[in-house]
Amino acid sequence: MERQSEIGETKRQVKTREEEEEEKAEVEIWEYTFGFVKMAVVKCAIELGIADAIENHGGPMTLSELSSTLSCSPSSLSRIMRFLVHYRIFREVPPSHGGTSAFEHTPISRRLISHVQTSMAALILLESSPVMLAPWHNLSAHALIDRAPFMAAHGKDVWDYAAVDGAHSKLINDAMACGARATVPAIIEGCPEVFDGVGSLVDVGGGNGTTLRLLVQALPSIKGINFDLPSVVSVAEDCDGVEHVGGDFFNSVPEADAAFLMWVLHDWSDEECIQILKKCREAVPKDKGKVIIVEAIVADEHGASHDKLEFVRLMIDMVMMAHTTNGKERTLKEWDYVLKQAGFSRYNIKPIKAVQSVIEAFP
Ligand SMILES: C[S@@+](CC[C@H](N)C(=O)[O-])C[C@H]1O[C@@H](n2cnc3c(N)ncnc32)[C@H](O)[C@@H]1O
Repeated sequence: MERQSEIGETKRQVKTREEEEEEKAEVEIWEYTFGFVKMAVVKCAIELGIADAIENHGGPMTLSELSSTLSCSPSSLSRIMRFLVHYRIFREVPPSHGGTSAFEHTPISRRLISHVQTSMAALILLESSPVMLAPWHNLSAHALIDRAPFMAAHGKDVWDYAAVDGAHSKLINDAMACGARATVPAIIEGCPEVFDGVGSLVDVGGGNGTTLRLLVQALPSIKGINFDLPSVVSVAEDCDGVEHVGGDFFNSVPEADAAFLMWVLHDWSDEECIQILKKCREAVPKDKGKVIIVEAIVADEHGASHDKLEFVRLMIDMVMMAHTTNGKERTLKEWDYVLKQAGFSRYNIKPIKAVQSVIEAFP
């Protein structure tokens, strides 16, 4: 009798769980229906300059102050602000002494200010640009007919596109610089020892040189060589301690004590990664040289990662599917394969407080 009532109780619990899941799904499905709205409104906030205006004002701003500073329609702006406040992107401060309420920063809106160390504005503007959004409409083509979505949308790959479209190239380089400002401090804090004894460092696919600029500022004994496509380095700003060199990493890489690759290998297939890594291995001394790789390591099939940034790695893997021809985020097993095939004798993995880890590979 007791046993039967236990079974009845379990059945009721299962049904309740199903009902709970059903109720949750009824709400959550709207996230997938209108998920793009959050990105679009945040892009709009950056374009209007809302976070910059509040920062320049030096404190909370009322709707009328914001709309006159930004030359915006107060009624449109009030609806946009209502949305942004709902998602805690800005905070609304209640009126005091019979005045009107005002809007102030939150930690998220501070990341939308254009010229601060933690700004993500340029990365958001790149990912929400028409050029980068168009390939998403062709994501299924990748699975069905193995056609690269970016190629299907634009007829060329992202690097050939950027080589002839200066404005888009600047968008990419500014966005990458954003990422570098977030990651370089985490590398220096998390594993400064990887730079011990490194007198010269070549940043392979270094973009506009932001990474090296930050590394050389923190570690001034290092001589930096920023290596990227000629179209990228020809417009890169000069920086003390950093020499810009143009070239193609499939042909050769400038010589240095160590080669550094951040967010580069995930753009390419295993075979292409092996080619790039071989060129890097040839560019550093056989006895005491190293290649420092800064890339995501996704959890493998043996277990989900409980790291709070794992969802970002999985999202970036989809971004690689949309925006590159054969790029992907890799598991440890996949990194082991490319590193061994490229001829490295051993490697260390160093987790840092970032989406990426540092892989130190030795010739
Ligand atoms: C995703 S970005 C990473 C930029 C930078 N490492 C960072 O993390 O900020 C990849 C870089 O690889 C460069 N690149 C692409 N193909 C290249 C090639 N064949 N030779 C040299 N650089 C190349 C691109 O111009 C771009 O700057």
